[in-house]
Parts: sequence; C-alpha cells; structure tokens
Amino acid sequence: MSEQFQPKVVAFLCNWCSYSGADAAGRAQRKVPAELVRIVRVMCTGRIDPQFVLEAFRQGADGVLILGCHPGDCHYKEGNYKMLKRHAILEQVLSDFGIEKQRYCLDWVSASEGEKFIRVAGEMIETVRALGPLRLPHTAESKETAV
Ligand code: FES
Repeated sequence: MSEQFQPKVVAFLCNWCSYSGADAAGRAQRKVPAELVRIVRVMCTGRIDPQFVLEAFRQGADGVLILGCHPGDCHYKEGNYKMLKRHAILEQVLSDFGIEKQRYCLDWVSASEGEKFIRVAGEMIETVRALGPLRLPHTAESKETAV
C-alpha cells in the first residue's frame, strides 16, 4: 500500500487580514490543514521579497501561497499593490526555473473570510498534491548527489 504524497505548502500571510482570517477559521473550529501548510506571518504582502518565495522552494516547499488584504484594504495603503506587481515577475522567474505556475498562488483573504482561507489553502494543497513533489535540478542537495 503506497502512502499518499503529503505536499509541503508554505503560506505567507499578512498580519492584518489573512492571518486573522486563518485565525477566524481556527476559532470556528474549521479544520486547517496545519500539517500541510507552514504559515509565515508577515506584516504586509508588500514586505514579501521575491527571494522569500524562491528560498521557500529551494528549502523544499512543494508550493507557495501568498495571502494578503484585498486591494484597497492594505493597512499600509499600497503594499498589496506592490506584491501584485511582483507577482507577474515571480511567475515568470518561477517558469524560468522550471517550476509550474500552479505551485505558486497569490490571493486575498480578509479577517472575516475564514471560510475563504480554508477553501484557498485546500485548493492549493490539492493542486500541489496532483502535481507531485517538486524536483529542482539545481538545488544544493542535487549537486551533492551528482558528485
Ligand atoms: S497589510 Fe495586508 S496586504 Fe498590506
């Protein structure tokens, strides 16, 4: 009997909306797939350097999810618009590295959208599960084994 692949998804959540949304899901006793989603709390999606995403994949994430305040609701006014600009660049860079674009997702979850958090995280996990483990050809581990 083979075990089902358990994807590792790293989720960067902005403190003011999406982290609170995840918290609301927890308070409503909704099952958050905690063993599959590693949550990194950031003050704003505008704080997310594209290097964070690349590093997450390099360190073994099979998928990366970024959730922030809805456009117009960012507590730092335009942090999420900055993230939105980086998003298109990130998709291109990930594609250049051979990482399927479905392994990376940017979405908006407010503090009152616990249900949406559950749905988006669940969809991401199932998408990544269907893709299988990420295999990067140029990681430190693959260089060690190639020698
Ligand atoms: S504070 Fe939430 S995206 Fe900026």
